[in-house]
Amino acid sequence: MTLLIRSPIVMQKAQEELRNVIGKKSKIIEDDLPKFAYLKAVIKETLRLYPPAPLLKTLVYVNAWAIGRDPKSWDNPGEFLPERFMASCDIDFKGNDFELIPFGVGQRICPGMPIGVVMVELLLANLLYLFDWGLPNDMRKEDIDFDAIPGITMHKRNELFLLASVHF
Ligand code: HEM
Repeated sequence: MTLLIRSPIVMQKAQEELRNVIGKKSKIIEDDLPKFAYLKAVIKETLRLYPPAPLLKTLVYVNAWAIGRDPKSWDNPGEFLPERFMASCDIDFKGNDFELIPFGVGQRICPGMPIGVVMVELLLANLLYLFDWGLPNDMRKEDIDFDAIPGITMHKRNELFLLASVHF
């Protein structure tokens, strides 16, 4: 949500996809999720830039955060561009593509990946489908902060406050 509110075009595309595909319903359910290619690209792009567990454990620490931003693997590595995962690119986070390893890779890869991915897709799909999102008061996109608390998993230092208005 932090990245989306700073990239209104991406937010709009994601919401249009959800609302065009689903039409008017009370909520999005798990069976709907395979239909949302752009939503999946948004989540992949977020996991590339902000892997929730940036340092993968093994005999050496693998810096998944730095790998996701390596200019040798990614064009415009610092930009939030989910389009990079549409059509022309079949890089996925399932452990076969070493450029994108938010769940780790190999024998110690996250065993919770399938359920984790479905939970994130379902939550984000419903947030974007049911509500339109804006910044409170006089806050500007440039004021949004991306600070994380240092640690084994990434947590935002400051909570993200947004205004939600019901879409339908
Ligand atoms: C989006 C959500 C999630 C992300 C990004 C994530 C990411 C990770 C990462 C990076 C690792 C370490 C891999 C390594 O050391 O190379 C890991 C390990 C692990 N994860 Fe997840 N995870 C998520 C959700 C879950 C869920 C929902 C569960 C359980 C239901 C889970 C269970 C585990 C377990 C048990 C390990 C340790 C595996 C081992 O050391 O052999 N994870 N996860």
